[in-house]
Formats: sequence, structure tokens, C-alpha cells
Amino acid sequence: MADLSIDFAGIRSPNPFWLASAPPANSGEQVMRAFDAGWGGAVWKTLGDPIVNVSSRFGAVDYAGQKVMGFNNIELITDRGLEVNLREIREVKKRYPKHAVIASLMTETKEDWKVLIRRCEDAGVDGLELNFGCPHGMCERGMGSSVGQEPKLLQEITAWTKEFAKTPVLVKLTPNIGDILDPGIAAVKGGADGLSLINTIKSIIGVDLDRMVPEPRVGNASTNGGYCGPAVKPIAMHMVASLARDPEVTIPISGIGGISNWRDAAEFIALGSTSVQVCTAVMHYGFRIVEDMIDGLSNYLDEHGMTSVRQLVGRAIPGFREWGDLDLGYQIVAKIDANKCIGCQLCVAACQDGAHQCIFTGPNDQQRPPHAHYPGTAKAPRPQILGTQAGDRVPWVDEPECVGCNLCALVCPVPGCITMVETSNETGDTWNRRVQEGRDKVPGGIHE
Ligand SMILES: Cc1cc2nc3c(=O)[nH]c(=O)nc-3n(C[C@H](O)[C@H](O)[C@H](O)COP(=O)(O)O)c2cc1C
Ligand code: SF4
Ligand code: SF4
Repeated sequence: MADLSIDFAGIRSPNPFWLASAPPANSGEQVMRAFDAGWGGAVWKTLGDPIVNVSSRFGAVDYAGQKVMGFNNIELITDRGLEVNLREIREVKKRYPKHAVIASLMTETKEDWKVLIRRCEDAGVDGLELNFGCPHGMCERGMGSSVGQEPKLLQEITAWTKEFAKTPVLVKLTPNIGDILDPGIAAVKGGADGLSLINTIKSIIGVDLDRMVPEPRVGNASTNGGYCGPAVKPIAMHMVASLARDPEVTIPISGIGGISNWRDAAEFIALGSTSVQVCTAVMHYGFRIVEDMIDGLSNYLDEHGMTSVRQLVGRAIPGFREWGDLDLGYQIVAKIDANKCIGCQLCVAACQDGAHQCIFTGPNDQQRPPHAHYPGTAKAPRPQILGTQAGDRVPWVDEPECVGCNLCALVCPVPGCITMVETSNETGDTWNRRVQEGRDKVPGGIHE
């Protein structure tokens, strides 16, 4: 079995799975139950001066039968007193010395940072995470994402904390920014030992159309909250990968955002995360989801000949290129497995209206649209292809016109019915090469 243990900037953890700073890591009792369930670490619900929360405070997007595809909250940092939290942290560290306990912190003045850091380190935390990400409530008070959106300020406050901290300092970033590299590199320059991302995305989750009030409703009003859950995973992975690829980012990354199972975790790790943090999936399904994460990741590593999770970190980074370095000659086309097809015609509608008008049904040749690459006639296959389930409702692909966009395969409801097949391999002809060689002008430009 592969070794799942990690060393994150000196913070050791039996596996890469950490609770994110949020309700599941709000108290010692919860964190201890989480560790019993298998979690390797926990970033405590953000500590600072306790706040007063509103009711209600959560909202969710359900989509096509899937509950909580996206989640939104207008909760602030901890509403529990600092001393109570620290007493519980002490207790957790005493009982679980090998697990990672990281204090998430948010405060204002240099003096407050100093005191907060000292008190947390005295309680025995393994590291600190600076919450420069919360996009609601605290940013209006000059904290959270208002710091994460100002790289200079972020760098300065990070440097303050490094003056005081004896344990590693992680900086948690907000995604509510033009280019994640700006705050990420500022954190590195400020001396951060690690980065955590993403915090939530500023959002309005919905509107109560009878009351005419946004949700989640607090009496007769609401406010913007932070979006997270499965829906944000693509955004989070992009930001993690941007930082992991950058030569100036030499510190480890804790990946966060929409992680619900081992596959999500493995993808974040392959894109450069050393640890991963989870909030929404735990709020939805409970601590036990970590069992799937541990088993799944461990099996995956074994099957792919990796003896430790460290070997997976950043493996997919070389496969990421700028658009201008992608091969323009590589080509795939759609192939339909007639015997799997149920004749629903979704691929036909998608390709005709949303792609390149090259899937048809029926025995007759078809007229290609006037804007086709090869205007003229699309030849229907002869004899007509008949499926065991769909009979003569099996569509056919006019291959010369297929641009290999994937749309039909994405909408087809039958797994494996439409596959995308390679028809020519990489040619090395990229946009950047065309620019270098002066072949970048495509006919039909503005000045023609
Ligand atoms: C209800 C709620 C409360 C949260 N509170 C905090 C917090 O106190 N500190 C913090 O850094 N992040 C907080 N977060 C953000 C999460 O730690 C995490 O960054 C975000 O939810 C993305 O991960 P997920 O998609 O797994 O939920 C909170 C998120 C939720 C949903
Ligand atoms: S891959 Fe795109 S262009 Fe080709 S058949 Fe499917 S939808 Fe049409
Ligand atoms: S979407 Fe799939 S199942 Fe439906 S007609 Fe097209 S190939 Fe057949």
C-alpha cells in the first residue's frame, strides 16, 4: 500500500486529507471525531475576535436531481471565544499528536496578529493559516478578501506574521481577483511557507421570487455570500495549477474547492497540491467520506506504480500548456456505437444547432450547410447502419466536417456510445510557431 503521509512545509500529516476551516472544524469534539474517521488534519474554523452570525446563513443550488451542486454561505469567522477554542486545540493535540492541527486566523492590527499567533502557538498548533479569503462580512471590516485583493497589503501582513510565528505560515487566497498569481506571489515574497486556495467565490445563490429577496434570507433582506462545493472545482483547479506552474512559487499548495471524493483529490494533487482541504462535501455527507478518499487514492497509487502520494504531486503540470503551444494539427472525430445507441437524437440536435452540422439520421445523403468546410453533399453510409436498440434511428457522422469538438459525446446519455477517435496525431504546428514563422495571418481579417 502506498505511503499517504505528507510533509507540508514541515507540517506532518498521516494523509493529505484535511478539514477546511469551516463548520466541520468548529470545535474540538468535531475535529476529534474527524480524526477518528480518518482525516489527517484540520484547519480550525477561523479564530479572531468572536462575531455575531445571522440566521439563516446557507443556500444551495440543486441541479438535475443532484442536491447541493453549489453551496453558498454568509457565515463569518468563529462565534466562539478564543480561550475556549484554544483549550480544545490543546486537548486535540494532546490526544492526536500525529495529526495536523492548523489555526486559521483573521485579525487587524500588527499587535493583534502578534497576540493571536502567540496564543495559538502556545496551544500547540502545527501551523497557521491566514484567512485572506472570506468574501462577505469580514471584508467590509477591512479583513478577509479585502486583504487578499491587495497584493501589497497581503505581502505586508504576511511579513508581520512571519516576524512572530515559529510554526509554518500558510496564506489562504481569495479567488475574487483578476489573476491569482498576483496575491500568490505576494504571499511568497512576504515569506509564506505555503498557500491554501480557494476560499469561496463572491456570489448570490438565488432569489425568492415571491418575497423578492435574495437568498439565504435574513428577515426581509440578504447579502452576497461565498460560493463553494462541486460547482467551483474547475475554477479552484485552474488557480492551483496557475500557481503550481509558476517558477516563483516554490512553496507547497493546499488545494481547496469542490473536493468530494478521491478522484477530485487526486486531480488537485496531480495539479500541484500537497494537501487537500474539504468543507462542503463534509457538510453534505459527514466525516465518513474520507474512507473513500483514503481507499481510492491508495488503490490508484498502487495501480499506477506510485509508492507515495508525494510522487503524484504536480504530475499533470507538464501536460498543461498555454493555448498558443497546443497542436493545431491534432484531430479527432466522433464515432457512434450503433448497438449502444438508443436513438434519442440528442447528439443530432447538439451538433446541428450547437456545433458543426455534421450528424444526421436516415438513409439519405444530406446537403451540407453553405458555410461547411467542404460544401456539397454528405454521403450517408450504405448500407444504412441499424442498431440493435435504436434501429434506423441511429445517427451517422459526416466525418470530413466533424471538428472533434466533443459536444455530441458530452450530451449522449449512454456511456461509451460516442467515442472520440484520433485521426491524426500531433504535428507540432502551434499558434506560437505560426507567429514565429510569419504564418499567423488567417484569410478574412479586419483589413481585407
Ligand atoms: C459555511 C462555511 C463557512 C466557512 N468558514 C470559513 C472560515 O471561517 N474560514 C475560512 O478560511 N474559510 C471558510 N470557509 C471556506 C472553506 O474553508 C473553503 O475554502 C470553501 O468552502 C471551498 O471548499 P469546499 O468547496 O470544499 O467547500 C467556509 C465555507 C463555508 C461553506
Ligand atoms: S464532435 Fe462536434 S462537430 Fe463532431 S459530430 Fe460531435 S458535435 Fe458534431
Ligand atoms: S445521443 Fe447517443 S444515444 Fe442519443 S442518438 Fe445520439 S448516439 Fe444515440
